[in-house]
Amino acid sequence: MKEALHAIAEELRRLRSLGVRTVPVSEEALQALRSAVAAQGPVATVQSEPPQTAVVAETTPPTPAKQRAERPAAPSREPAAKPRTLPLAPPPFTLGEGTKQERWERLREGVLGDPVCQAQLRPGKKVVLGVGDLDATVFFCGEAPGAEEEVEGEPFVGPAGQKLTRIINAMDLSREQVYIGNIMNWRPRIDDQTGPEQTGNRPPTDEELGYCLPYLKAQLAIVQPRVIVALGATAAKGLLGPGSFRQVGEVRGRWLAYEGIPLRVTYHPSYLLRQDDMGKVAGMRARRSVWEDMLQVMEHLGMPISEKQRGYFLKT
Ligand code: URA
Repeated sequence: MKEALHAIAEELRRLRSLGVRTVPVSEEALQALRSAVAAQGPVATVQSEPPQTAVVAETTPPTPAKQRAERPAAPSREPAAKPRTLPLAPPPFTLGEGTKQERWERLREGVLGDPVCQAQLRPGKKVVLGVGDLDATVFFCGEAPGAEEEVEGEPFVGPAGQKLTRIINAMDLSREQVYIGNIMNWRPRIDDQTGPEQTGNRPPTDEELGYCLPYLKAQLAIVQPRVIVALGATAAKGLLGPGSFRQVGEVRGRWLAYEGIPLRVTYHPSYLLRQDDMGKVAGMRARRSVWEDMLQVMEHLGMPISEKQRGYFLKT
C-alpha cells in the first residue's frame, strides 16, 4: 500500500509540473485514499506537492473527517507548528453528487478536517467556513477570520460582523438570507507572538490566499449566487488575482465578474469602523460609499428600494 500511495503522490507531482491543479476523483476513491492514508499512520500524506512543501507530517494522525470536524483543536501550551511553505492548493477534492446541503456538508467536513488548515491554528482555535442560505442570491466575501471568528468557527461574528449585519439589514435582508464567507479559512498567524492568543490581524500572503481559494470556489459552485460582494482589498485580490489593482478605489464603483458571476467590490466593514473612529464626517462618507455599492447590488437584483433607503447616509 505504501508503494501505491507513493506512486499516486508521484503521479500528482508529475501532473502538477504540467500545470494541472485539480484532479477529479470520485467520492468512493477519495474515501479509499483517506482510509489508506490513515492506515499508514501519522507520517503518511497524500499531497499534490513535493515533500519539502508538505506540511502535515507533524500534525495529529488522520482521523475520520467527521470526528475531526466536530473536535476542537486539542488544547496545548505550545502554538501549533506553522509550516514554512504551504502546498499550492488543498488536496484534490470533489463536491460529488447530492443536494446543495449534502455537498456543502461534505465540503465543510473536508475543510474543517484539512490538516494544513488545522496546522495554521493556534491551540483551541477553529477553522472557519462560510455560512448562510445555500440558495442565496448575494454572496458576501470577506478576508479572514479574526479573534472572535476563530473562537466561534463562524465568519463575521465580531465587531466587523455586526457592521456587516447592519448593512445586510439595511438592504432589507437578514444574515440567514445571504451567504457570508471569507477568502481564508483560518486567521493568519503572527508568529512572533507566542501563546494561544494573538493580538491584531495581518493580511494573508498570496500563498495563503492561493491555498484557500479552491474552498471559496467550491462554496460559490454550491451557492451559485447572482452577485458576489467582495468586502475589501484582500477579498477583491483573491477573486481578481494578485496584482490586479493597487487600491480598492480602482475596482470599486463598477461591475466586474468572477467566473461569470457579477462582482461588486466595496470597502471592508473594518474600514467603516476605522473611519467611524476618525470622526462623524469620515464615517458617514465611508458608509455612503458602501451603501451606494449596495444600492447597485439591490438594483441589479431587482429588489425594491424605498426613498428612505436611497437617502441613507447622505446627511451628516
Ligand atoms: N473580517 C473578515 O474579513 N472576515 C471575518 O470573518 C471577520 C472579520
